[in-house]
Amino acid sequence: MPQMTSRRAVVRIPSGPQSIETIDVPIADPGPGEIRVKIASAAVNPVDLRVAAGVFHRLGMIHQPNWTGLGWDFAGTIDATGPDVDLPAGTRVAGFLDGFDRDHGSHADHLLLPAANVAVVPDGLDLATAATVPLNATAAAQIVDLLGDAPSRTRRLLVTGAAGAVGAHAAVLAQDRGWQVTGLARAADEPFVRGLGADFTTDLGQGWDAVADAGALQEPALRAVRDDGRFIGVQPAATLPEERGITVKAIYARPDGPLLADLLARVAAGELPARVHAAVPLAEAADAYKTMAKGGIRGRIVLVP
Ligand SMILES: NC(=O)c1ccc[n+]([C@@H]2O[C@H](COP(=O)([O-])OP(=O)(O)OC[C@H]3O[C@@H](n4cnc5c(N)ncnc54)[C@H](OP(=O)(O)O)[C@@H]3O)[C@@H](O)[C@H]2O)c1
Repeated sequence: MPQMTSRRAVVRIPSGPQSIETIDVPIADPGPGEIRVKIASAAVNPVDLRVAAGVFHRLGMIHQPNWTGLGWDFAGTIDATGPDVDLPAGTRVAGFLDGFDRDHGSHADHLLLPAANVAVVPDGLDLATAATVPLNATAAAQIVDLLGDAPSRTRRLLVTGAAGAVGAHAAVLAQDRGWQVTGLARAADEPFVRGLGADFTTDLGQGWDAVADAGALQEPALRAVRDDGRFIGVQPAATLPEERGITVKAIYARPDGPLLADLLARVAAGELPARVHAAVPLAEAADAYKTMAKGGIRGRIVLVP
């Protein structure tokens, strides 16, 4: 007898982790260009904490009438495909959902989404690790795209939050574009950050040619950029005003299957860092969110249905 319902973590009236509940909804079949994924692992990211806390509801970005689905990225196995999909059932894939205003998310046991949003997980890369990659490595790649190639003589880049999921990937990817990278992180993170090939600091300092603000420090990080430098933020809903000739931009990570395939291959090859802190049952999502909210975790918590 096939499973007729799917379980998902949602918030009805968002007020933090305690407002998370798991509900069962009828399982749906994929439409044209869509796949249904049986989720193996789904990462809990900082954005999930803010959705569960109602931050984006208050900003007018979420208008769900009944409940809001939680979770952005995931890894799992295709269990059904719609018309016009080349990937067969049984394929291991990873990906992430776009946008805030939805009644479903990756903190679930099944997920429908466009096949174009996912990439095949390389053999040898486990699905828990793969689940930590899509949103954060894509965000890092898009930060580095906005930075562009380093100019020949002004290439000192500070990456804040360099021990975090986005910052660690950005610290590596920026070196490919010629940037001389220094990672800002906590003192205990020094070995990890230096292992990325970056210099290390615990102080913002000043006079950087560019800052990739993966730690979301915002104004203080902008002040650390030299006049006419570059600043890339990670909070598009709170983009900072330009000052002192600094080019200020913020990313909004968009799913990109081919880009993700390349990033997963680099994780599998050990070229990009991906860390799992713990695997927690989906039924204990609220506890996982509470642990995340305390901060200080290195590597992602992944929810396992
Ligand atoms: N716009 C987009 O499309 C997009 C996409 C993905 C992520 N994001 C955002 O990007 C940000 C980073 O995400 P993430 O997943 O990388 O988070 P993360 O894994 O929690 O990493 C953030 C890191 O910054 C560190 N940090 C914070 N303040 C610091 C300080 N003053 N000095 C040194 N280290 C500091 C944290 O250390 P502690 O844990 O010790 O505090 C942590 O290691 C989040 O705000 C997230 O929402 C945006």
